[in-house]
Order: sequence, then C-alpha cells, then structure tokens
Amino acid sequence: MTIGKIQPDFAGSTVVVTGGAQGIGYEIVSYFRDAGAKVAVLDYDAALLDKAWGSVDNVHTAAVDVSDGDAVTAAIDGVVAWAGGVDVVVNNAGIARDAVVWKLTDDQWRSVLDVHVTGTFMVTRAVVPHMRAAGAGRIINVTSCTGMHGNIGQANYAAAKGGIIAFTKTVAKEVARFGITCNAISPNASTAMVAAVPADKLAEMTASVPVGRFADAAEMAPAVGFLASEQAAYVTGVVLPVDGGVSM
Ligand SMILES: NC(=O)c1ccc[n+]([C@@H]2O[C@H](COP(=O)([O-])OP(=O)(O)OC[C@H]3O[C@@H](n4cnc5c(N)ncnc54)[C@H](O)[C@@H]3O)[C@@H](O)[C@H]2O)c1
Repeated sequence: MTIGKIQPDFAGSTVVVTGGAQGIGYEIVSYFRDAGAKVAVLDYDAALLDKAWGSVDNVHTAAVDVSDGDAVTAAIDGVVAWAGGVDVVVNNAGIARDAVVWKLTDDQWRSVLDVHVTGTFMVTRAVVPHMRAAGAGRIINVTSCTGMHGNIGQANYAAAKGGIIAFTKTVAKEVARFGITCNAISPNASTAMVAAVPADKLAEMTASVPVGRFADAAEMAPAVGFLASEQAAYVTGVVLPVDGGVSM
C-alpha cells in the first residue's frame, strides 16, 4: 500500500508566522516558503531570527514582541508595505514558565498570558482589517492539549492555551461572513520547549503518546497548510490535534 501526498501550492499568498525563528514556527515558515508563499516572520529573539531567516529570499523578518500592540501594528503595516496584504496568519509564538499554582509568581503568570493570549489577540486585531478588505483570510492559532485537559505545573499555560481556544471560536464566528476562517492546531513535537522538560517527566509524556513518539516539528506544518488552504474554506472554529493521539 502507498499513502499519497498532498502537494501544497501557496504561490501568490502572503503568510505571517509568529515565533518563527525556531521550533514549530520555523518549520511552518519553511513549509509555506517551499510552497511558493511570501512569508513574514515575527519573533522577539532578534539574533535567532536573523540567524534563521536574515537575507532569505521571499522571507521578511520583524523583531517584535507579539504582546506589544504598537510594535505588532507597525510590524503588520511593514508586512503589508512589503507584500501588499496578508492572506494567512499563524499565531505560534509561545513560552512556558512552569510552577505549581501556589508557587507561580506574578511574572510567570503574566508573561505566559501576555505572549499567548494577548499576543494572539494583538496580531489577529492587526490583520483582520486587511483580510476583510481582501474578502478572504485564514487565521491559525496554536493551542495545546494542556489548554483542554490541564497539566500539573502549568496553570498559567493551561489558562493561556484554553483562552486561545475560546478566542479562536469567537473570532471564527465574528469573521466567518467576511470569507475569513479561524482555527487552531494542538501540536506535540520535539522542540526546545519540550527539551526543557525534566527527563523523567519527558519519559512519562512520551509513554503517554498513543503513536509512541514525539513528532518532528516539521510534521505540524502540513496541518497548518490544510487549514490555510482554499480547500479549507468550510472549516472554521475547530481545534485540530496534531499530537499522535495525546488529546484523545
Ligand atoms: N512543542 C510542543 O510539543 C508543543 C505542544 C503544544 C503547544 N505548543 C505550542 O507551539 C508553539 C511553538 O512552540 P515550540 O515548541 O516550537 O517552542 P520554541 O520555544 O521552540 O519556539 C517558540 C518561538 O516563539 C518565540 N517567542 C516567544 N515569545 C515571543 C514573543 N513574546 N514575541 C515573539 N516571539 C516570541 C521564540 O523566540 C521562539 O522562536 C507555542 O505556542 C507552544 O506553546 C508546542
């Protein structure tokens, strides 16, 4: 038996990816660029961003903290000046600052909510007027099974990722009549964020994956590609787990 392949074609599209300097975001940028899109990468780690994407054809970079509304507005204006519009946005930037709830500091709480919830909001608010003007658009947010089921030591991250799910469904309802869809993926992949998990906890997490392994980060991108495609016009407000069955 041979399993077939979908060949993506995003020639002519402009895609914005946040947190695209490494990990899942990096692979999403590569996927769309390889598929012919112009890709704008927003990431707050200027050095990492430059190392990954500085001077790469069809890639525009902006060193910006997604939770900073003015900086995000300026960055999206820069993307529109560069490419003429925004067709797809992938709100992927994220951090984890873990501690059990009685030990969580104000900074751990606020920084995680800021990046995930406020950052997703800031970027979405900035791109929707451009998508409305064009009469089409795709918004893809990145949540986590922690946002659906919770996880010890991650009350801040769970609140943030659960917030992203509620935000996704609400925005999906608000923008549906303008030809814009808003969905989320819930990933599970080997990245720096996962490498920071203590070894015993990581072994436990790996054992709980029905498929039996963490994915390569590149395995997340085709699911984003589907949600970003013309063929996904009738798919909105969903959370697509790309997680080897973890969230079942
Ligand atoms: N790796 C997994 O298994 C997994 C599971 C569930 C959800 N996620 C989510 O997937 C997304 C990507 O995670 P990853 O594992 O690739 O992480 P990562 O740490 O490898 O990459 C995160 C990227 O986001 C950038 N970033 C962080 N804060 C930012 C900010 N305020 N403004 C702009 N850029 C910022 C970082 O510089 C980095 O390039 C995150 O939203 C994460 O919560 C990952």
